[in-house]
Amino acid sequence: ISFFTGCRSLSQLAELPETHQILRQTCRDYADRELSPIAARLDKEHVYPAKQIQELGAMGVMAMEVPEELGGAGMDYLAYSLAMEEISRGCASTGVVVSVNNSLYIGPILKFGTEEQKKQWIQPFTTGEKVGCFALSEPGNGSDAGAASTIAHQEGDEWVLNGTKAWITNSWDASAAIVFATTDKTLKHKGISAFLIPMPHPGLSLGKKEDKLGIRASSTANIILEDCRIPLGYMLGPRGSGFKIAMQTLDSGRIGIAAQALGIAQASLECAADYAHKRTAFGAPIGKLQAIQFKLADMAVAIEGARLLTWKAALLRDSKKAFTKEAAMAKLAASEAATFCSHQAIQVLGGMGYVTDMPAERHYRDARITEIYEGTSEIQRLVIAGQLLKEYQL
Ligand SMILES: Cc1cc2nc3c(=O)[nH]c(=O)nc-3n(C[C@H](O)[C@H](O)[C@H](O)COP(=O)(O)OP(=O)(O)OC[C@H]3O[C@@H](n4cnc5c(N)ncnc54)[C@H](O)[C@@H]3O)c2cc1C
Ligand SMILES: *[C@@H]1O[C@H](CO)[C@@H](O)[C@H](O)[C@H]1NC(C)=O
Ligand SMILES: *[C@@H]1O[C@H](CO)[C@@H](O)[C@H](O)[C@H]1NC(C)=O
Ligand SMILES: *[C@@H]1O[C@H](CO)[C@@H](O)[C@H](O)[C@H]1NC(C)=O
Repeated sequence: ISFFTGCRSLSQLAELPETHQILRQTCRDYADRELSPIAARLDKEHVYPAKQIQELGAMGVMAMEVPEELGGAGMDYLAYSLAMEEISRGCASTGVVVSVNNSLYIGPILKFGTEEQKKQWIQPFTTGEKVGCFALSEPGNGSDAGAASTIAHQEGDEWVLNGTKAWITNSWDASAAIVFATTDKTLKHKGISAFLIPMPHPGLSLGKKEDKLGIRASSTANIILEDCRIPLGYMLGPRGSGFKIAMQTLDSGRIGIAAQALGIAQASLECAADYAHKRTAFGAPIGKLQAIQFKLADMAVAIEGARLLTWKAALLRDSKKAFTKEAAMAKLAASEAATFCSHQAIQVLGGMGYVTDMPAERHYRDARITEIYEGTSEIQRLVIAGQLLKEYQL
């Protein structure tokens, strides 16, 4: 897809530019045709959607912001948010694989990588088969990422890494990782740097695949580094800038997770509304009952509010304005909307909401992670309050 990236104004919250409408519809059609029908099986059997990820790669969705000369789609972040919502509406596990490749892997390389690194770590991936991963969390520290204790020690012309990274999405399916490690523990978070490591690689091994509540078609595992040696040139950004890179990457990533949550919430609403038409009780469709109508109305309001916040955060980012607060607000609102809507959808479906014959229970399980990864809801509130207190300083 060749794309016009001129979407910059808040009026676009009311009506998307035509290019974005087409992209949204294309992704929606793809999700309805290729993802929704298999999402339950992928979830049940923990199957990585390799073929679908490759097809999404061919559509440009796996490297949305990468310039065309580096093999990407050259689109903007609003376009990415729209694609993420539609894909996650079909399959939230596929959604997280898309988000990690775009926001967490490509994002920091595009922003902080040298021209040579961009060529080495972005361009050769263009066969569309490879995905990257992002390794910040550790078993002993997640929210407190500045406490990371994986060490990178310089030996001659190599970095030697030792430590364990936890919960790494895509790790079993990835061809490269961005790994955060400290070169000087006494400097605390200012000692952390980012490193690029090919996968597989000597000294790098994977833990067991975690058996998760939701997003079960994506892999999550520890990355264990034991005397893992890489060339000095595999450091991303300046020495000591790793924490800054991680935080800026997560600011952007949160917009993608907000969009993933919107997709789950929207799928929950559609499932509930459809059932409300079809199911009868006491001689009439349950959709005639005000108790059911109110649930649908509350779901729609939560979704629309969160969607506007998500688009606003994306538009601010596309206009090169500050968006840290808005991204945290979008992620918080959308993830709580996903939890709320999937909960309500189960209630509307009654017993059918509780069994795997219908997708509502999967949405309920998938929704939950959006309140945890890329900063828990508590951390989002801290980020928002921190920005507010700066704004209202007299
Ligand atoms: C399925 C899955 C995929 C993931 N993918 C990745 C990945 O690809 N890469 C990666 O690096 N990480 C990943 N993570 C890790 C994820 O980002 C962390 O789990 C998350 O940041 C929380 O850290 P924690 O689990 O250590 O919880 P903790 O930090 O121990 O938090 C426990 C509780 O304390 C609260 N808390 C902590 N500090 C504060 C505070 N200052 N104020 C108020 N409350 C606080 C938290 O909100 C939470 O409720 C993934 C996790 C999961 C489950
Ligand atoms: C993931 O991103 C890389 C880097 O831009 C890209 O080359 C690759 O094709 C993407 N993966 C897929 C499956 O499309
Ligand atoms: C961070 O977690 C690791 C274990 O993963 C632990 O060894 C280390 O002490 C923790 N760092 C701090 C500062 O607590
Ligand atoms: C890394 O761990 C290996 C053993 O796994 C050890 O031999 C080596 O000394 C460690 N290096 C550093 C810098 O801690």
